[in-house]
Parts: sequence; C-alpha cells; structure tokens
Amino acid sequence: MVKTRSQFVCQSCGSVYTKWSGKCEACGEWNTITEEAVDATPKGMTVGKGRALELVTLSGTIEELARRTTGMLELDRVLGGGLVAGSAILIGGDPGIGKSTLLLQAVAALAKSGLKTVYISGEESVSQVRLRAQRLGHDKAEVELASATSVRDIISSFDRPDAPDVLVIDSIQTMYVDNVESAPGTVSQVRAASHELIKLAKKRSIALFLVGHVTKDGQIAGPRVLEHMVDTVLYFEGERGHQFRILRAVKNRFGGTDEIGVFEMGDGGLSEVTNPSALFLSEREGEISGSAVFAGMEGSRPMLLEVQALVNTSGMANPRRAVVGWDSARLSMILAVLESRCGIQMSDKEVYLNVAGGLKVSEPAADLAVAAALVSALTHMPLPLRTVVFGEIGLSGEVRQVGRTEPRLKEAEKLGFEKAYLPGKTKIKGVQIGMHAIHHVDDLVALFRSSARKVAAES
Ligand code: TYD
Ligand code: MG
Repeated sequence: MVKTRSQFVCQSCGSVYTKWSGKCEACGEWNTITEEAVDATPKGMTVGKGRALELVTLSGTIEELARRTTGMLELDRVLGGGLVAGSAILIGGDPGIGKSTLLLQAVAALAKSGLKTVYISGEESVSQVRLRAQRLGHDKAEVELASATSVRDIISSFDRPDAPDVLVIDSIQTMYVDNVESAPGTVSQVRAASHELIKLAKKRSIALFLVGHVTKDGQIAGPRVLEHMVDTVLYFEGERGHQFRILRAVKNRFGGTDEIGVFEMGDGGLSEVTNPSALFLSEREGEISGSAVFAGMEGSRPMLLEVQALVNTSGMANPRRAVVGWDSARLSMILAVLESRCGIQMSDKEVYLNVAGGLKVSEPAADLAVAAALVSALTHMPLPLRTVVFGEIGLSGEVRQVGRTEPRLKEAEKLGFEKAYLPGKTKIKGVQIGMHAIHHVDDLVALFRSSARKVAAES
C-alpha cells in the first residue's frame, strides 16, 4: 500500500515543517501551521536530454508593453500607467474591504472600452454578483460572468485563441486543482491554482486579476505565499469605519511600487478621489492645539495630512501610548528626543497620536509634524494657521533634509497654505510660500515658547 506522506505548512508564509508547532518560526504567526498531503516526489532529472539555451546580449530590440487604461485613473496609477496584457495581478486585502467591488467596477469600465472581460466568482452566486452590479449601475456592462471553482474548467474554457483580454478570479482561495489532494485554501492548492492560471495568462496574453483574502487566523492561505509568482501585488487597505480605501502597490514588474490610489466607498460603490489632500483636510477645524498638517509624499504624489496628538498627565508607572496610522517605535523615538534634547518631560504623560482620515504614514519626513503636534498638544498652543510641517528628526534632535521638497510645497501652496516649517538650507525657486527653517527640534520648541510668552503678555 502506498502511504501518503504529509507535511506541515504555514498558511501565512508557506514555510514547511516536518512536525506541527504552534508558532511559525519563519514569520512569527501563531496557529497558522496545518497538515497537508505531499504530492508524489518528482522523479530525478537526467542531464543531457535538454536543449542548449540560446544566449543573447543585453542590448537589442525590446518588445513594447501593450498597456490599456482601465478607465479608473487611480487604478491605472498603481498599475504603473495601465493594465499590461499577459500580466498577473494579485489584489490582497481584508475580507469586506471592497476587493470584489473594485474589480467589478474595473471590469465594467474595461468592457465599456471594448475589451473582452470575464469575471469568475468562487465565493458568490451569479445572482449575488448581478445584484451588486445592479447596485453599482453596471448591470448593462458586457462583462461575462460565471460562478466556478475548478481551475480545470476555467482553463478548458479559456485556453483558446479567443481568450478574454481580462480575467478576474475572485478569490484564489476558493479555487482548486483536482490533482492536488489538499482542500481549497491551503498553501498547496493556492500555489497550484495560481501556477496554472498564471501559465494560462502568459500563454494567451490575458491580464489576470487574482483576489486574495488576508487572514489572521491561518484558516486559509494568505496572499503572501504567492507574492513571488505574480507580476504585480496590490493591497487594498482602509479602516472599516472610514470611507477611504487605499490601493497600494507593494510589487510591480511594470511600474513603481510606492504609488497609491485613493478611493471612497459610498452607496454607489467606490469612487475615485483625485485630490486626496483636500478631502483629508476637509474636516480640519481652525486653530486648535495638538494638530499639525504634514506635507507628505505617497509615491509621486504629494499629500497633505493632519497629524493629531493628545497629551495627558498620567498617574501610571507606564503611561499609555496609542498610535493610529504611524509607527509606534518612531513615536517613542520622537518622545525620547523631545525629553532628552529639549528637556520636555514626556515619560509621565499619556500620549495618543492619530493620522486623520485612516491613512498609514510611513515616511520619516513626518517626524517634525509629529513633534509639532506633540509640543502643541502639551503646551495647548496651536500652530500658526495655514502652516505645513515636514522634516526628519535625528537622534541628537537635528532636523534632516527630506526628498521632494518642491512638490510638497507646491501642493501646500495649491491648497492655500502660506507657511512651511521645514529643514534648513532649502532653496526652492518658484514657490511663494513662506519658508521657516527648523534646524533642531529646539527651534520648534522655541517657537511655541515665544508664542506662549506673547499670549501671556497680551492677557
Ligand atoms: P466587497 O467588495 O464584497 O469586499 P471584499 O470582496 O473585499 O470581501 O465589499 C463589501 C463591503 O463594501 C460591504 O461591507 C458593503 C460595502 N459596499 C458599500 O458600502 N457600497 C457598495 O456600493 C458596495 C457594493 C459595497
Ligand atoms: Mg469579495
């Protein structure tokens, strides 16, 4: 009798173990390791039967990429300027964040531009997808639809000369390949199904969208196990309670990776946000303490965001620190710099920091804006009206230059800002905005002290 061997695979990162354990050593996730059957070991290859490779030089003719715009500017931007035929795109994100909505809207727009588009749903019935299309006002779009989960059926249907231009698989975790023993959603199935579908996409020049749910509990394989197989990896992020959704490119063989697309989820589905700064700042009140406007960059696009801070005296030995939308380690660093370089006592204070609008900021250039919001919250002194802030803070308290000063200032100017607190030695031509150099965090603190003195003198 042939004994089926089994192995233990982490459903988050795909690491393989010979025995079960509670924690994956490779990615650090808990309870993500499950047992899977091993496929028969491939037979050893005999050398000498292969064909000699034809080698070429680096210079030579380059095939031009056939790019099609998707009809959604924000999606085109993260794709690097449009959809490339024969490319595989993974869209990952939490369940319910709006991946199916986004792709249904995208295929409807692509169908309108004359492409042959197919939407395969493995999660929802045809009626459910139709209902959503109706809600989105796309029920007249010429999108071909099927509810299916067998990769063999999908390949038999589309491995032909009149293959569709665009194929959406929603989601890859529901697909199964019948010669792999594991259940759908396991690492082996997700990998095998993606491999077959990507092969089809390359052979027939289909632009393939794979939807991948991100899971924390390890019941189904996460998109991370197939990031290396696809050409482009996009993550759809956002807070459930917020209407903003950010589509972020984390890998792109056909474009830059730091681009983001901004959408707003409403009753009629996702709408594109072409001027995010105006929207992120729209609920900002006038002069209030604990708030600073950060002139940031997301990819090639400048974006103004409000950083809010709240500082409270705490009776606890370990005062609470809570951060939304920024790195908590970075916050600790700024607090330490303020305390040890500027003599501002922070270790006995509760600190809350929030980037308004639900966007995650990862740029070190936000340091100075965070410091300004913190000092402003602590002193109850608002920053001057219509002022933006940016700059990186070093451990000795020095404020360092950051890249792309010009687009930051231009965006601020466009939105009616009149002054910028920025690192020293900045010369930018063609902007009217007043530049106030901050060389050291001390300079920033001094500004608050002098306005506090002014207020005291006036009262
Ligand atoms: P969905 O696209 O199904 O998410 P995913 O495919 O990532 O799991 O989006 C589901 C959520 O979006 C659901 O909670 C309802 C909301 N939604 C709207 O707010 N407006 C709409 O027009 C649609 C279609 C969905
Ligand atoms: Mg869905």
